[in-house]
Amino acid sequence: MKKAGAEALRRALPEAALPLLDAVVREADRRRASVWLVGGPVRDWLLGVAVRDVDLLVVGDDLAAAGDLAERAAPDGVRVVRHPRFGTAELHHQGVVIELATSRRETYAQAGALPSVSPGTLDDDLARRDFGANALAFPLSKTARANDNRVVEADGALRDLEARRLRVQHSGSFRDDPTRALRAARLAQRLGLSVTRSTHAALRDALRAGVFGVVSGERLRREFVKLIDDAAIGGDPSRALRLLDDWHVLGALEPGLCLDRSAVVPLRRLGRAIATPPWKSLRHRPWRAALLLWLAPLPSGLRKRVLERLAVRGEVARSITVAIRQRDARLGALARVRGRGAVDSLLGPLDEEELHALYAVGEPKLRRRILRYATEDRTRRTPASGRDLVEIGLSGPVVGRALEGIREAFLDGGLSSRDEALVLAREIGRRSRTAKPGRRVVGRKRQG
Ligand code: CTP
Repeated sequence: MKKAGAEALRRALPEAALPLLDAVVREADRRRASVWLVGGPVRDWLLGVAVRDVDLLVVGDDLAAAGDLAERAAPDGVRVVRHPRFGTAELHHQGVVIELATSRRETYAQAGALPSVSPGTLDDDLARRDFGANALAFPLSKTARANDNRVVEADGALRDLEARRLRVQHSGSFRDDPTRALRAARLAQRLGLSVTRSTHAALRDALRAGVFGVVSGERLRREFVKLIDDAAIGGDPSRALRLLDDWHVLGALEPGLCLDRSAVVPLRRLGRAIATPPWKSLRHRPWRAALLLWLAPLPSGLRKRVLERLAVRGEVARSITVAIRQRDARLGALARVRGRGAVDSLLGPLDEEELHALYAVGEPKLRRRILRYATEDRTRRTPASGRDLVEIGLSGPVVGRALEGIREAFLDGGLSSRDEALVLAREIGRRSRTAKPGRRVVGRKRQG
């Protein structure tokens, strides 16, 4: 485990967040506020793994303390978002987010409900946290450092970290907040922590109490998204889901839900692609690709219920369902077609998540085809545009067909210049005029 020191900590924090963090600490010093780095970032730093978030704790006896400090500290152009009910605030600037929370106690009126919060001390705040490994704080402002310049822990937290174990701080932890089970699987897997017997007992207790059924779909989905996103920093989604299955949590979330063996390798592959993207993706939401892989082997009725359970609705749910239904046919066609042009027209209509899911599930030859399409072909511009085709007198659906034919021929090396493209377009136009009604005419015969 790392030795705690302010300079070493600074080096471990995400560099882009430092100017904003310095602004907060400066303001805290002006106001003699007690500000600490808390929870996940302290844990990750001491374990020597990448620190991704900057979570700050502002000790105060008014829940507004964190929000007030955030507003006063925010330099021009920095957006402040306050959540008064929870005594928290966020600073947003050019993709950097710093979270501030007022030190607090939490009580849960019902299992699975959001907590009621009231101001508390630093110790209260550490004690309310899910696991010992997260119940750690490091002083940042002068007032916080006044007593000591060292990590402060809830009882046993540093020992947990030393022994690399994940231990609930009290036996009702999962009853209070069942989403902590997803956090447990994610953290245990990513950080290589062993789950203690007391934690297993608390989980069994929550399962017996039936609290998993009452957590809202939005909260579950948020945790699921984090579980998948953690692949970027070394997590393996397939192993985290396997833990949840072994612990009977998946079935408690939705009866019948499991991790089918056939989804394990593709999910692992997706995890690697999240960590080291095989191609540049613009709008890639990895959790959607993960759902495509995880839910594909399940019966369609269960799949629908799981999407509903995770509050995945509307167009997103529909696109996932349709993509799963079409997957095998797509893989078959991808194996059969010949030529880069044909691969391009097969993969062109897919969104980024479908493409990643196909890549994760495909055989090596198919993966090579997808990779070549995603890294080279899809960004190549066809030498003639729709407007060019209209200018030579084409109109209606034949314009689209001619563009398709030109693109295929271009990617296959059959033509390279605009003039050659227009020759082919005229040819396709002529053929479409002479073709029998209802017959599809493109530049070349398509396979698959
Ligand atoms: N926390 C909790 N119970 C939850 C969620 C969060 O007790 N259901 C506490 C944990 O102590 C956690 C802190 O709130 O450290 C901040 O939560 P979050 O930022 O979601 O998680 P991190 O621990 O920072 O985890 P990670 O870095 O892996 O995202």
